Amino acid sequence: MGCCQYYFPTEGGAGAFTVEMPRITFGRGVLDEVGERALVCGIRRAAVFTDRYLVNGEHFACARASLTAAGIDATIFSEVQIEPTDRSILAAADFLKDGDFDGVISVGGGSVMDTAKGALVYATYPASFETYFGPPVGAGQPLPGPVLPHVACPTTSGTGSEATGLLVVRFEALNTKFVFGSRYLLPNEAVIDPACTDTLPPTVVASTGFDLLSHAIECYTARAYTRWAKVAKPNARLMIQGANPWSDLHAREALRIAGAYLERGVADASDHEARDSLSWGATLAGMAFGNTGTHLAHALSYAVSQQARGFHPPDYPSSGGTFVPHGISVIVNAPSVFRYTAAVAPERHLEAANCLGAETRDATPEDAGEVVAARIISLMKATGVPNGIGGVGLKREDAMALAESTMRQRRAIGNAPRDTALEDVQRIFEQAIAYW
Ligand SMILES: [Fe+2]
Repeated sequence: MGCCQYYFPTEGGAGAFTVEMPRITFGRGVLDEVGERALVCGIRRAAVFTDRYLVNGEHFACARASLTAAGIDATIFSEVQIEPTDRSILAAADFLKDGDFDGVISVGGGSVMDTAKGALVYATYPASFETYFGPPVGAGQPLPGPVLPHVACPTTSGTGSEATGLLVVRFEALNTKFVFGSRYLLPNEAVIDPACTDTLPPTVVASTGFDLLSHAIECYTARAYTRWAKVAKPNARLMIQGANPWSDLHAREALRIAGAYLERGVADASDHEARDSLSWGATLAGMAFGNTGTHLAHALSYAVSQQARGFHPPDYPSSGGTFVPHGISVIVNAPSVFRYTAAVAPERHLEAANCLGAETRDATPEDAGEVVAARIISLMKATGVPNGIGGVGLKREDAMALAESTMRQRRAIGNAPRDTALEDVQRIFEQAIAYW
């Protein structure tokens, strides 16, 4: 069986994996349960994180009414920065520290949920910002202990942050993003109401949908957990632990959902079947990558969003500068990445392509990279996202600078199924300039 052959024991390799999960509530209208869910967590005085666009909208009003009905005293922080930075996280931590709160509610996309997680970290365990991030940017210290309870309510269908203990932050001084994870950062409750996505414009659904697609395929093709070194103590086992049979289950289903519903969800906001499915797919992919970690498509994406030029998609608020939404910064690399990684795990790439809806019956292992790339490219074309990194203003001569920046994403690069050096990353970027 393909799934099990991937997990052959290796000398000195891990012999176990650990699964971490919040309680999950999913369904249209469940945002009005958030008050009761918060009570179950012991929250009476909540810090509520959202952004300045959502704070005046109907979804936030629904969550707020639910908190009021449950008798919860709610204080709102709506200054969340889209794509949070070390500075914006510390401002959110100051808010949390000053308020005598006994819990946190987040209502928003990945930026909101990650800001809530970051605020919990630095309000509870103050330290220099890089302390908890892995080398080379930080010391990789584990978070010392628990934080206040957190109820996460996603309003987009991509990030999956509601189901993970991972946090992504852009370091302003280095102008690039880094990730760290801790089981203490898992939300206690994830309340996923797909009705929140009814009003999302097509470019946002495309970007977040490709984020979920890439989470799933990166998990499915990640280095097997048995190929990561065995940890000295059980508690040292990281959440970025490699592909495992748990994440396979969720990744496969998330890929089926992305393959069946991404185009429909982008094309028609009134297609509830598609949009609800994408919400569920995002959470499934979160359950997968929160226990696996992503690899190269995400590792490369941070340099793309850092170095892109002259690009700003429709449907996103403009600050006048270049802005590449996270899912787009990931997917413009993806076909080139999977052409590269398929060489060492062709069966996994073919299975992933099959879940995405590609015809794989007559495909040989040598075809795997091309088959999966072609399926992703067809979805990119159908949903109008940029044609490779050239579509966000990058050129072939940028490949080395992009690769050098990417090499700082050490854990994610190590999670790729292939050992990957600077020159490999440079070549992946060179072959990601344009696909059609
Ligand atoms: Fe992502």
